[in-house]
Amino acid sequence: FEVNWDAEAAEKGGYEHFMIKEIYEQPKAVRETMTSRVAKDDSGITFDELKWTKDDVAGIKKIAVVACGTAYHAGIVGKYLIENLARIPVEVDVASEFRYRSPLVDDQTLAIVISQSGETLDTLAALKEAKNLGARTLAITNVVGSSIAREADQVIYTWAGPEIAVASTKAYTTQLVVMAMLATYMGAIKGTLAQEKVSELCNALRELPNQVHELLEDVEPIKTFAQQYGFNEDVFFIGRSLDYAVALEGSLKLKEISYIHAEAYAAGELKHGTLALIIEGVPVIALATQHDVYEKTLSNIKEVKARDAVVIGIGLKGDKQIEKYVDHTIFIPATNKFLTPILSVIPLQLLAYYAAVTRGCDVDKPRNLAKSVTVE
Ligand code: G6P
Repeated sequence: FEVNWDAEAAEKGGYEHFMIKEIYEQPKAVRETMTSRVAKDDSGITFDELKWTKDDVAGIKKIAVVACGTAYHAGIVGKYLIENLARIPVEVDVASEFRYRSPLVDDQTLAIVISQSGETLDTLAALKEAKNLGARTLAITNVVGSSIAREADQVIYTWAGPEIAVASTKAYTTQLVVMAMLATYMGAIKGTLAQEKVSELCNALRELPNQVHELLEDVEPIKTFAQQYGFNEDVFFIGRSLDYAVALEGSLKLKEISYIHAEAYAAGELKHGTLALIIEGVPVIALATQHDVYEKTLSNIKEVKARDAVVIGIGLKGDKQIEKYVDHTIFIPATNKFLTPILSVIPLQLLAYYAAVTRGCDVDKPRNLAKSVTVE
């Protein structure tokens, strides 16, 4: 009698790769990150780790968000959310730029560093730099007791659980949940958000785990697109406002694990160069979930269609118009407009995953990349 115990297979819990396991863990990760923070009666957001007063929030004249990779993309979403909901100006930098650009940071600045691992060297150095310049510092990280958690004045943990795959998935969605909660929290304290809006956001946040779950139930069409287009060497992602932020993350996912050249463009910027690259058969993933820029995005979709691109649209359930202009559509459940990135990124993660599998790539350990970059 012999037992063949494959520890790694056991850790993958029946999934072929850590990445797909982690994608499927997102309903739980999102739920846990909200636990004890979003009130069950939708009355508001609590951060026991912050306990900010009106004066604390009023003292923040500017926010500098600093991060690398996927965490940087969460920061870009955070900028939209904080500026819209709490009306505080936000700058977002990649850590390796922030460190060396002599940033305008002082004691009225809140520096927010985002890092899944809490160990990324550039992010840690940027945090120290912000501290030296007198900023208050807040870390958003997934690893308790990590270097960044220890260095920052305050910490908000994402409760995503261990993330093993190099390409970040559940850490990103939980970073977005923290950003949405933080923006709502600050807006409520500052008074830029009416109680009614706070309640709407809380309610929409609490719906998210089920909506993420719903999206993960029907992956077949995405698998088919990945198989159909997985051998193209160039893919473009377009969107406006929050959709642009998600486009950046979708394109990074595809690059990292499938080695397909992918670029994200603010849809309105296409005309200023990228349109020259759109020729027959080039896949374009177009996100169109933002009501206020919907018509503008549709006209950008028409522009790429006119050059015979193959367009996969990401739209909100119930949108009857988008299908007329794209080749395929993936619908996401309707939610508060500030929370759409948490849903729209899921099909993009799946697309990258299945493209990488189709191409026979080493999904969990892509060439040349590391989970945590602790050298410069
Ligand atoms: C590496 C990883 C990325 C990650 C980035 C930042 O490049 O491969 O997935 O987004 O580091 O990592 P951090 O742990 O600071 O979020």
